[in-house]
Amino acid sequence: MMPEEIKDLKMGDGAEFDRRAFFTKLGLGSLGIAAVGTAAFAYEFLSPNVLYEPSPIINAGKPENFALDSVTIDVKSGIYLVHSKEGFFALSAVCTHLGCLTTWKPELGIIACPCHGSKFNREGAKIEGPAPAPLAWLRSWVSDEGDLMVDRSTNIRAMEFLRV
Ligand code: FES
Repeated sequence: MMPEEIKDLKMGDGAEFDRRAFFTKLGLGSLGIAAVGTAAFAYEFLSPNVLYEPSPIINAGKPENFALDSVTIDVKSGIYLVHSKEGFFALSAVCTHLGCLTTWKPELGIIACPCHGSKFNREGAKIEGPAPAPLAWLRSWVSDEGDLMVDRSTNIRAMEFLRV
């Protein structure tokens, strides 16, 4: 065999080896990507599809933080805390028509719904509009630490004031 033939043969063998290694790595890489995708899909499929709701119990803080004749909305929890001369009470701020969040209008002394115009007095009774029911009164109490607590999941009869 001539030296040039030996050189060509080595180059040919080297080029073949590199191509094979390349395709092997490409195949393994593809399998790896497919395996990761399958594992991610399996994890998503097998993990429980649960919504974690926040607690219905709200700690509104100390009663002395609420001035007499004040109406305070907690937008995050969707409640009003009212301090009237008869005592404290908590109202749902969610309109009984289609569930919009109402707002307190201090200049008018009413609670108004921005969606379809329902209006309620400070005690939650409907004044006008399409709302089918008054705003719900919510159970409230004073904790052992002296904080005002509200349970959004428990309605009470209207005009049951909490005296602190
Ligand atoms: S949602 Fe309040 S009036 Fe319609």
